[in-house]
Amino acid sequence: MFTRRNGFIALILAVLVIAIAAIMILMADSEDEDAETLEQAPAAQSGTPTAITPATGATAVPSTFILAEVTEPDPREENPTLASANDYYGFAWQMFMYVNQPYIIFVGGSLTRWEAWQASTDIYLPCGARPADYNTEEPPALPEEVKPLLPEGVEYARPMLFTDKFLESTIEIDGETLVDTNGNPIRFEVRMNPSTVNTVMTNGFYNRDNQVAYFNSSRNDFQFAPESLEVKASWRQLLPSDDASRYYVNYGYYYDQQGNPVVIKVGLTGLHITSKFLPNWIWMTFEQVDNQTMTTAPLVDPIPPDVQQVNDTVHNNLPATSIWRYYNLRGVQTEFAINGQPTILANTQIETQFQESSSCITCHGLATIGASSDGRLGFFDFFASDFRAFVGGLEGQTFYATDDTEVFFNGVNAFAQQSGRVRYKQLDFVWSLKEAQSPSMCNQ
Ligand code: HEC
Repeated sequence: MFTRRNGFIALILAVLVIAIAAIMILMADSEDEDAETLEQAPAAQSGTPTAITPATGATAVPSTFILAEVTEPDPREENPTLASANDYYGFAWQMFMYVNQPYIIFVGGSLTRWEAWQASTDIYLPCGARPADYNTEEPPALPEEVKPLLPEGVEYARPMLFTDKFLESTIEIDGETLVDTNGNPIRFEVRMNPSTVNTVMTNGFYNRDNQVAYFNSSRNDFQFAPESLEVKASWRQLLPSDDASRYYVNYGYYYDQQGNPVVIKVGLTGLHITSKFLPNWIWMTFEQVDNQTMTTAPLVDPIPPDVQQVNDTVHNNLPATSIWRYYNLRGVQTEFAINGQPTILANTQIETQFQESSSCITCHGLATIGASSDGRLGFFDFFASDFRAFVGGLEGQTFYATDDTEVFFNGVNAFAQQSGRVRYKQLDFVWSLKEAQSPSMCNQ
């Protein structure tokens, strides 16, 4: 039987297969060439590569970065309308392949499109300082002290971890740390595409005072552009005893508590992707298939059968060597509630301890700014005995959402006028805006 849905999936798969074959050829080429050839003959890598010259003064940057040829279709151009759940699953898989396309190639490896975006820690600087102008085509310089720590033949590693006060790299948003079966913590990062950065910059929202000024103003129009994309990724350290062939792998570095640089080989365990293609964003999440055996994260809800069916179809059509066969879409969220029931979606690596009360869209709808004295809405019920996320409208929860425009907080619509004023203004679902600092924190 050839249904519209099957036709759609077949179409996506055809596009995926062609695109992946192209990437594989590209990657195979880059593996064949040694460092010198790569530097001398970037044109052999792809059709129209651009060699990137390191910024003046930057030290130890690989001699040449090459931009990969764009091979993955942008799902937003491929699917001008999204009508059904299966459209969303197909969109999610296309988006996954699009953001994971190798984008910047260097000696010994590459960065995906999303890995080349800026991290929230690049934007929300101490004292609310203005970040440097954005350039996705030139990854951050590699500090001199990190270079000797890289494995033979790998010229680059990227800073990949949060260092800020609230959300340490190894701490989930509920304050807990998830460990893998080696006892090492799962690590997180948030990255945003240039369009998203642009909106933060033009509104000055890298500085908390500007967010408060927005709250105090008559404006209520803060929005990201439809091109905006964001990711939150989780990684586990891969030891020699781990089967790295089942992970998307890269190298990252961080500084330990003594301030010493540490380079680790990491495998991607989870990836949240959100796209402002719909006004309330589309919420998608993927996981590596071994997470329940290689990390200590329990699985609360199995992947729904219709989603797994799409996963199986995509996997079967990917090349046998594709690393993405080891990743599953867990689901897609576009509604606060369906038939009066809250929609729930979690990634076991990222919302580990509150999977049963995790609603991406509802929790992100609580991303707000209030008056200086009111701060922001929270996303946990601090009075609950078990300190869980109380989102998604389960019985007895504090926060619940009924439709696209109302989020209730202790039974009161948080965004309606109360005693003549609105208590909080929403920040278009983007929680990392809370990382913005105020210059006054530094002017004491
Ligand atoms: C209980 C609240 C909560 C839930 C549920 C939740 N998130 Fe988040 N999310 C956050 C917070 C807080 C941040 C910012 C802090 C950080 O950097 O992790 C964040 C960050 C993100 C980011 C980076 C962009 C941003 O908003 O800063 C993405 C993408 C994201 N989450 C996607 C998802 C997806 C997809 C789901 C559902 C599968 C989900 N989140 C569930 C609270 C939540």
